[in-house]
Amino acid sequence: MAIRIAPSLLSADFTDIAGELRKISTADWAHVDIMDNHFVPNLTFGTPMVEAMARVSPLPLDCHLMIDEVDRWALDYAAAGAGSVTIHAESSAAPVRTARALREAGARAGLAVRPATAIESYLDLLPEFDMLLIMTVEPGFGGQPFLDVCLPKVRRARDAVRAAGLDVWVQVDGGVSTQTIERCAQAGADMFVAGSAVYGAPDAAEAIEELRLLAGQHSDARTAAAPPRA
Ligand code: DX5
Ligand code: ZN
Repeated sequence: MAIRIAPSLLSADFTDIAGELRKISTADWAHVDIMDNHFVPNLTFGTPMVEAMARVSPLPLDCHLMIDEVDRWALDYAAAGAGSVTIHAESSAAPVRTARALREAGARAGLAVRPATAIESYLDLLPEFDMLLIMTVEPGFGGQPFLDVCLPKVRRARDAVRAAGLDVWVQVDGGVSTQTIERCAQAGADMFVAGSAVYGAPDAAEAIEELRLLAGQHSDARTAAAPPRA
């Protein structure tokens, strides 16, 4: 299982976004948190900023939309240049329609769930998505402590993806650090968002490599223990 590290620009220096993107060029994706002050109590970027980032980013952009009425706005982020657009289940009235439109537009489609949202009612929709994002904090802010209570959900998500024989990535976001990433990898996550753990470190590239190494060790163990696919 490939390990993907996606540093979150939420913890970057907003006065030098181009420089902050360059700092993480050894990662796999740049995670961009879109917040509207309604779905979450914080406000960040819109499509003009995503367009600007896409022009200078060495990495594809992974846009995480934490906004109301997400079905109405999601396509704009694909058009702005995002390689992946993740919508929250709690904000989407028509997740299948939106996912199909995103894929049609050439973007990967992700489905996110807050800590209190169960994934079980969404599992039949898995073939419509490229990624499942299991939030490991309440969305809204960087630097919050990791919620261990979300790990069983990561495990169930991985098991469901495996049982369906799909190549859906399982992403964790919130409180991911050298202290917690091994637990996430063991539970079956293969894409790791880290904001403060990367931008708060003295050297972003070193932090990325350390996270990648720790995650890699543990994801192998779980893959090896998994039953063969039917
Ligand atoms: C929180 C955001 C995260 C945030 C993670 O709502 O979705 O992407 O940047 O920050 P850390 O890694 O510091 O918890
Ligand atoms: Zn995020």
